[in-house]
Amino acid sequence: MTFDIDMIKGVYARMKDRVDAARDIVGKPLTLSEKILYNHLWDGKATQAFVRGKDYVDFAPDRIACQDATAQMALLQFMQAGKSKVAVPTTVHCDHLIQAKEGASVDLKHANNVSSEVFNFLESVSNKYGIGFWKPGAGIIHQVVLENYAFPGGMMIGTDSHTVNAGGLGMVAIGVGGADAVDVMAGMAWELKFPKLIGVKLTGKLSGWTAPKDVILKVAEILTVKGGTGAIVEYFGPGAIAMSCTGKGTICNMGAEIGATTSTFGYDESMDRYLRATDREGVADAANEVKDYLTADAEVYENPEQYFDQVIEINLSELGPLLNGPFTPDLSTEVGSAMTEKATANEWPLKVEWGLIGSCTNSSYEDLSRASSIAQQALDKGLKTKAEFGINPGSEQVRYTAERDGILQVFEKLDAKIFTNACGPCIGQWARYSDPKNAPKNSIVHSFNRNFAKRADGNPNTHAFVASPELTAAIAIAGRLDFNPLTDKLINENGEEVMLDEPTGWELPPKGFDVKDNGYLKPLEDGSGVNVVVNDSSERLQLLTPFVPLGDSITGAKLLIKAFGKCTTDHISMAGPWLRFRGHLDNIANNTLIGAVNAYNQKTNFVKNQLTGDYGGVPDVQRAYKAAGIKTIVVGDHNYGEGSSREHAAMQPRHLGVAAVIVKSFARIHETNLKKQGMLGLTFANEADYDLIQEDDTFNFLDLNEFAPGKQLTLEVVHTDGSKDEVKLNHTYNDSQIEWFKEGSALNLIKKQNA
Ligand code: F3S
Repeated sequence: MTFDIDMIKGVYARMKDRVDAARDIVGKPLTLSEKILYNHLWDGKATQAFVRGKDYVDFAPDRIACQDATAQMALLQFMQAGKSKVAVPTTVHCDHLIQAKEGASVDLKHANNVSSEVFNFLESVSNKYGIGFWKPGAGIIHQVVLENYAFPGGMMIGTDSHTVNAGGLGMVAIGVGGADAVDVMAGMAWELKFPKLIGVKLTGKLSGWTAPKDVILKVAEILTVKGGTGAIVEYFGPGAIAMSCTGKGTICNMGAEIGATTSTFGYDESMDRYLRATDREGVADAANEVKDYLTADAEVYENPEQYFDQVIEINLSELGPLLNGPFTPDLSTEVGSAMTEKATANEWPLKVEWGLIGSCTNSSYEDLSRASSIAQQALDKGLKTKAEFGINPGSEQVRYTAERDGILQVFEKLDAKIFTNACGPCIGQWARYSDPKNAPKNSIVHSFNRNFAKRADGNPNTHAFVASPELTAAIAIAGRLDFNPLTDKLINENGEEVMLDEPTGWELPPKGFDVKDNGYLKPLEDGSGVNVVVNDSSERLQLLTPFVPLGDSITGAKLLIKAFGKCTTDHISMAGPWLRFRGHLDNIANNTLIGAVNAYNQKTNFVKNQLTGDYGGVPDVQRAYKAAGIKTIVVGDHNYGEGSSREHAAMQPRHLGVAAVIVKSFARIHETNLKKQGMLGLTFANEADYDLIQEDDTFNFLDLNEFAPGKQLTLEVVHTDGSKDEVKLNHTYNDSQIEWFKEGSALNLIKKQNA
């Protein structure tokens, strides 16, 4: 058994008490999202009603899931916390570092060679600290979580934005940065702004060519890529109840594409069926005992406008199959002539080169079975696929069962490549071209979630369209973007006109799931004897050393860069080719702030070294200051550090010796990350003081020894002509965050408290 039934029963046991108390305090019926949130308050039973979209609240998640790319730094940090075991059930899933090229068996072997060092590290750390480890090839994190760990009414965080997929089983599951995950692993609370709530009422019923994927493609069209920001999307109505659990997972998964905090569905029979089919009768039985608490109060769904901040209604009986793209997941087009017109007007290639089925969004048994029903028709009707075909099953359990049931063989007969049970092309791990930058303009269709330029194959000229697995199969067979399977005929090998019938499939395998080796490694009960080996000469992994406190006197600091305009976490710590260094702080620090624009010359990665007067790359200049024992500051504009929650954007400057980041305003998560790493994250009390900062200035903090909550700090700015300005700086540090600063980092403090 991989899941923790006692933990789940514990969540249910306290539910009535806590949810009833919350309802009294809030003073009205509760949505499902509120029930889950109030049942997971760090401080226990609610003593106040929280204001949605405003109050920051401490929560106690039930589980954590990490994928191999983000787990590296998260676990390296956790190792610093001085704990012998993770405080809440945690799993690591190796799915991102496996490239799709030849097919599963060859590709998996190759990945195990190329990334063995990273996989071995993750495995040994997992074993040592009581973390469940899913080997490369075991499956895609979110499919594996849905099959094994997600449970109705639970709360989970994960170091991947599509953690939200678990909403398909009625969870509140949220993607976070590694630093947040480390806090929870170390037994601390997890803070979240109490989300706003969007209700989506699904009426009617899906039928024919329309799939759950089309629901979220429609929601993305309505809300756009930003419309869900700061909100939980709660689906309800007869259309929701009639849908399969994995279909619900697809919808929740792509909630990430509308910026939603997460999405969820109330508990229903589809979840009961899925739990039983995946060997979790105990969870289904326990959920059934508290099922009134695993969905909203009845009044909420009767008058949703009174309880949600926004309500959308979609009639599934009227919804048709959609294709979203290219380059953004919210650009929706109906199949057929609408696509002909749009593609012609925008010069999108109508010929489709590849159809790809998989990703955490659409790789369930149901997805594969429905797509294979289309593939089978191609075989039966004498059709050949015009496009190439690639399949990534979501898990070894799905793959094994689909092979047993003859589903994969249908695809293979159409010359499809069955890739590893892993992310593959969805995260750009696809060896499609030798030189992607100069590859030709083309169109592909896939059942994934993201279709930004270059995402799948690195080719900026690939026009990627997102569709359901069954429509992806039909379009791959037809080879045309504007193929409408409801009306269009195809010519088969005998020159006859044929049509594809509606897809059919199985919600769950009729003979049940089966698997020989699901790829799970249970951690040792006592991992204290496990030796985690990281080679000193490794390029990809580096053990962390605790950050040294900056002290209460910072004087003679130099300006590293005054960033002009937008400075996101991508500008501070770029992704792309730097991904391979995510577990090696010193190596990845070589990309620090290389995307930020220098306010004095409008160039990127070109700043003045005050020690020599020469200009150079930001990391090089910063390393020169560090070697000379000189602290530095970074100055920035508004919303500094927006973008992802990646902790590298704070750890890298800290590692290189930046002491303070002083900006007009922060993106809040980045500000917190700076605090966690023991740095100063400060804002100009008077925004115009940003203009006072000159390229050759020297900085003295005058009253850092009086650092206290709510008290401004004073910075003396010494210009080269000897003149001085005094700049007042605001901060949002509370007492415990000031302790983080004094100890050098939050982790140092945790370690001290554990000593
Ligand atoms: Fe993997 Fe793509 Fe999902 S990268 S976790 S399959 S979004």
